[in-house]
Amino acid sequence: MAVHSFTPKSAGASFLLACLLYLQYVSAQTGSVYQLDTEYSGVNFFDGWDFYTGGDPTGGFVTYYSRSSAQSAGMIDSTTSQSVYVGSDYTSNISSPTAAGRPSVRISSQRSWTHGLFIGDFNHAPGGVCGTWPAFWTLGPNWPYTGEIDILEGANLNDYNGITLHASPNCTIADTSPMTGALQTDNCAYYPQPGYNVGCSISDDRTSAYGTTFNQNGGGVYAMQWTTDYIRVWFFPRGSIPSDITDLTPDPSSWGLPAANFEGCVIDQHFQDHKIILNNDFCGSYAGDASVWNSSSDSCATQTGYATCNEYVAFQPAAFQDAYWSINSIRVYQ
Ligand SMILES: *[C@@H]1O[C@H](CO)[C@@H](O)[C@H](O)[C@H]1NC(C)=O
Ligand SMILES: *[C@@H]1O[C@H](CO)[C@@H](O)[C@H](O)[C@H]1NC(C)=O
Ligand SMILES: *[C@@H]1O[C@H](CO)[C@@H](O)[C@H](O)[C@H]1NC(C)=O
Repeated sequence: MAVHSFTPKSAGASFLLACLLYLQYVSAQTGSVYQLDTEYSGVNFFDGWDFYTGGDPTGGFVTYYSRSSAQSAGMIDSTTSQSVYVGSDYTSNISSPTAAGRPSVRISSQRSWTHGLFIGDFNHAPGGVCGTWPAFWTLGPNWPYTGEIDILEGANLNDYNGITLHASPNCTIADTSPMTGALQTDNCAYYPQPGYNVGCSISDDRTSAYGTTFNQNGGGVYAMQWTTDYIRVWFFPRGSIPSDITDLTPDPSSWGLPAANFEGCVIDQHFQDHKIILNNDFCGSYAGDASVWNSSSDSCATQTGYATCNEYVAFQPAAFQDAYWSINSIRVYQ
């Protein structure tokens, strides 16, 4: 604000002006400036999305189905109730852990945005099951140059949410920003050599944020705010969702500290033109990584009795009945 260019006529006028500017500042900070741009919910939910049917770019043991195939296989449903179902096959015994992987779904919004407020309300998500690797995220057209924002992501039996940015080199975030999550890695860049691809990541360690406890609580709301200056993510468990979100007048300045606050990288240089993606992957370079599958925190090798993630996902279909999204709405505000 250009306060410094104003020459006050007196100390009184200066004080009054300061008060007025402060009030203006307060109202700008507290009034919602966001207007609903796009809503995905209810019976027409799937009309706004493309179904990805290519091979999984992250090596997952998964076969992504088209809309009509997913519909016939009962893996998607937007007809029966207010919430939309996006699941995976949980009845087929896959003949071999090296065959095509378990049928599943990966959808991406037909529209794309630079900046905005992205709010997903989920009753249930696919986490909390060995072999799963679900995510609710956004992606630009030319990875890693146009960036990736992972809003909800986890693997296997994780009981925390991983919030992560992926970008091209020269994007590192500061650890000085106030947030409730814990900074895990600060370099967002992808380096093919020697192979750094974990991005900059912040964990939301509340068990309600992901997996079994998230589902037991009836899920909650994830909100991602993307501006020129920062990218922030909040999670509100069911029962603690701010009323301005349910009223469709979301005002992030009233929500308190975000779980994740990414600042310090030149956001507009690295993040552009994102579509929203929702998918349900299995195994691959995260959940299926031998050290992750066998790690003491996940202990999926011990718990399932299968040496590899692919074998478990291939041979134990019933385990994936619980690996589904139940979506009340995904809304984008500008
Ligand atoms: C790297 O980013 C900084 C800001 O964080 C910027 O000042 C600098 O010009 C960038 N360097 C290159 C090579 O793009
Ligand atoms: C993972 O655990 C399984 C079962 O205990 C074992 O057979 C396998 O060799 C382990 N893999 C690695 C890479 O440690
Ligand atoms: C699926 O097939 C494998 C390999 O033939 C077998 O070991 C496994 O028990 C089968 N799973 C079920 C649930 O029948």
